[in-house]
Amino acid sequence: MVPPTTSPAGEAVEVDAEAPAVEVVEEPALNAEAEDEEEGDARMKAIDLIAPTRLDFLKEKEAAEEEPVKTAEVIAFANQKGGVAKTTTTLNLAVAFAESGYRVLCIDLDPQGNLTMSQGIDPDKVEKSLYDVLVNDMPISEIIVKREIDIAVASIDLAGAEIAMSTKIGRERSLEKALKEVHGEYDFVCIDTPPSLGLLTINALTAANKVIVPVQCEYLSMRGLVQLQNTLRMIQENLNPDVRIEGILPTMLDTRTIHAKEAVEILEENFGDLVFQSRIKKAIKFAEAPVKGSSVLKYDSDSSAANYYRELAKEVLSHGSSQ
Ligand SMILES: Nc1ncnc2c1ncn2[C@@H]1O[C@H](COP(=O)(O)OP(=O)(O)OP(=O)(O)O)[C@@H](O)[C@H]1O
Ligand SMILES: [Mg+2]
Repeated sequence: MVPPTTSPAGEAVEVDAEAPAVEVVEEPALNAEAEDEEEGDARMKAIDLIAPTRLDFLKEKEAAEEEPVKTAEVIAFANQKGGVAKTTTTLNLAVAFAESGYRVLCIDLDPQGNLTMSQGIDPDKVEKSLYDVLVNDMPISEIIVKREIDIAVASIDLAGAEIAMSTKIGRERSLEKALKEVHGEYDFVCIDTPPSLGLLTINALTAANKVIVPVQCEYLSMRGLVQLQNTLRMIQENLNPDVRIEGILPTMLDTRTIHAKEAVEILEENFGDLVFQSRIKKAIKFAEAPVKGSSVLKYDSDSSAANYYRELAKEVLSHGSSQ
């Protein structure tokens, strides 16, 4: 008797020693390399002779190499001018992403705590906040609160963070470092920044891939953009070469006035394609929604105000990932 071998279907079969030896001749010979030289690439390689189950480790290795770990797209919302709709845009765009099924984390990097408040959380009552993350290296997961989106909250003591961080080594990278813990858990991280170009905003721009710049459509509001571009250039040269402006967003647009139309035209003449196609028009709902602790998308889901940010979300998604 010859030892059992395996059929193409994987069943054990017995080979009859009396039967014609045709099948045996067709088996690849292990020491046939020299004879097969002229067959070139068609000849069997040693690896082909390893049992298929032993090749599994190779398949796993290849799969791991093919699928890079997806990390979050980090978007900073910045403009050192106050009251241009940074916070409103951070929250409503974040909620629009979440509505489309994306996992979103918002970061309230403004000591005013407006983003935290607009999700119904009182920054005065918050015990652990971004201050602890940036100054004392507390894991960011400890200060994330779940609302319409997940939010890393601000408290009033964040106002002292810039001074407390000023002697810290790597002070510009504190947020970037903290975000590493949660990078794989979110598709988008949206960072609201204060109306200044201080250390908190620098932390946001250093951690970000993209910057969205909300601009109120008034001539005077647009002058500050040059200063913001200079700061961004400094960040690109020294801290984060990959960060770029995703778009400049005209906000609080009063389409009835000639001044607003002219302001948008000046913006387009100076910044061309960097200006988003989307327009955020003036609407009283934007002032009403935060009082109820909610985004405009939740406060009045069918309103045109809500749709302005859904359109913006589509436009950002159509630009694709920067990674
Ligand atoms: N499209 C809009 N129409 C009308 N009001 C708006 C609109 N967008 C924002 N607002 C209101 O304008 C005010 C300023 O907006 P927001 O707080 O978002 O600006 P900001 O740039 O974050 O301000 P700060 O620089 O103080 O952080 C808020 O009361 C907000 O509700
Ligand atoms: Mg704000």
